[in-house]
Amino acid sequence: MKMTLMYVDPMGDATDRYGATAGLYDLMAASSRPAQLTAVESLLAVLRPNVGPILDLGAGSGLNTAAVLDRVPEAHLFAIEPSPSMRALILDKLAARPDWHQRVTVRPEDFFSAPLPERLGGAIILGVLGHFDAGERAAVFAEIAGRLPDGGAALFDLQPPERPRRVEPFELTIAHIGDLAYSAIAESWPIGGDRMRWRISYLTLEGERVLVEDTVEHEYHHPDPTAIADEAGRADARVQRLGESTFWLLTR
Ligand SMILES: C[S@@+](CC[C@H](N)C(=O)[O-])C[C@H]1O[C@@H](n2cnc3c(N)ncnc32)[C@H](O)[C@@H]1O
Repeated sequence: MKMTLMYVDPMGDATDRYGATAGLYDLMAASSRPAQLTAVESLLAVLRPNVGPILDLGAGSGLNTAAVLDRVPEAHLFAIEPSPSMRALILDKLAARPDWHQRVTVRPEDFFSAPLPERLGGAIILGVLGHFDAGERAAVFAEIAGRLPDGGAALFDLQPPERPRRVEPFELTIAHIGDLAYSAIAESWPIGGDRMRWRISYLTLEGERVLVEDTVEHEYHHPDPTAIADEAGRADARVQRLGESTFWLLTR
């Protein structure tokens, strides 16, 4: 039997655009996780947990929320995750750690609807900035930078490619677990301005046989770093790339 779910998100505001992604999210993130964790660790030194909670915007499955809870015992986390299926993953991680429950809040709203704390001790904006257009990004930077103390910082990333271009289909084997394999096939096209349209199929395979195929399409912004620097500047913040990586620090 083959089950197929085709989930197209032309408006970009469907309630659970991460429904197809959530099932394999942590397995898929595993290969990029060491680099992401290194970037999160460089943020730890400039966190100010005494000023306010640490925002995890688009917290996803909670990998970074959990990393900060684990490494900074005095930190409180304010995680925002509007996707029900991704939120289930972060809550699942928290279910295993009742000792963290007094130090973390998981809000179900999107960024502009969530009641942000007055002050922030730092922020994590990973894998999510591309969901915002230029005006929204400037507003995100302003909302966050305005809540940080002087010298406070937010970690963000810019997903490749740096500028929109055609990305031919490529397959990523995510994991072999028991008798089955999990993989993803991704491709994308420029669709104007800084936007690209991504199509990603998530496959569960038994040998050559496809047992599950979930396909999702979504639009994602790939802004030029100079545009980002300008948007941050308008929020009285500056940005600095972490080495040659895709990770950046925004500092107030
Ligand atoms: C690629 S995942 C990244 C998850 C996590 N930050 C990580 O790095 O593993 C992007 C997440 O951003 C969330 N997201 C998308 N639009 C958002 C918005 N407007 N406000 C808050 N979160 C949003 C999605 O639901 C999704 O879980």
